[in-house]
Amino acid sequence: NSDNLIIAIDGYSSSGKSTMARRLAKAIGYRYIDSGAMYRAVTLYAMQHGFIAADGSIDKAALVSALPEIKIDFKVTPDGQRTQLNGKDVEDEIRTLEVSAHVSPIATIAEVRRALVKMQRDMGESKGIVMDGRDIGTMVFPQAELKIFCDASAEKRAERRFKELTEKGQSITYEEVLANVVSRDHIDETRDESPLRCADDAVRLDNSEMTLEEQDRWLLDLFRRKTVGL
Ligand code: CDP
Ligand code: CDP
Repeated sequence: NSDNLIIAIDGYSSSGKSTMARRLAKAIGYRYIDSGAMYRAVTLYAMQHGFIAADGSIDKAALVSALPEIKIDFKVTPDGQRTQLNGKDVEDEIRTLEVSAHVSPIATIAEVRRALVKMQRDMGESKGIVMDGRDIGTMVFPQAELKIFCDASAEKRAERRFKELTEKGQSITYEEVLANVVSRDHIDETRDESPLRCADDAVRLDNSEMTLEEQDRWLLDLFRRKTVGL
């Protein structure tokens, strides 16, 4: 039946993956998991413990040995899911541009990826999940029944993210957001460990000119076509 699939949504930074994934999960009664929030939580932990120097260099050995101490989960609240790091709500803190500036280098570390991929696979045991990220269709769940790869122009993506962050009261410029988006995309695409790429069996979506509603309809349609007869 169609109650227990795994749906993988990957793509570029701020391309609308988490919005799509969250809204689809709600519409079809699946669990939503934001894998990017997990890389952000590890980054925040590294910042809080002094593992990232002022020049951005990372004390990799210290971070790797601390990995067993890092527990990440998601708390369901009326405002949606909130990321918890060792029992503390860090949902707002992990979305700052400061965390965004350090997260992609952290996500190149093989041991970090190995630990998070394991947690993500455990979360997917019961199936019936939508997970978004960079390597969900290629690495975490290569067997996922439905895979989407999302993109939009860098300017559009930066514009959307800038609007979101300024509405939340962060004082940043559009140029800073654009530079961060472009730099993360580059690191994510060129790293050795499971780089960002479109899985061979993923359906591509460019939503540069799509509204959230059009995007929802497109995805729900795709899901229904996929599950017809299941
Ligand atoms: O929301 P946004 O697209 O800005 O990023 P995110 O999904 O929160 O992910 C933040 C960063 O985590 C990405 O730029 C990647 O460096 C890393 N990441 C990853 O390497 N693999 C994943 N499955 C998810 C995120
Ligand atoms: O998860 P990811 O970083 O790929 O992107 P997101 O957080 O889902 O979307 C980034 C921002 O773009 C959010 O504020 C979305 O509401 C907005 N967005 C949009 O306005 N139109 C779209 N078609 C997709 C996303």
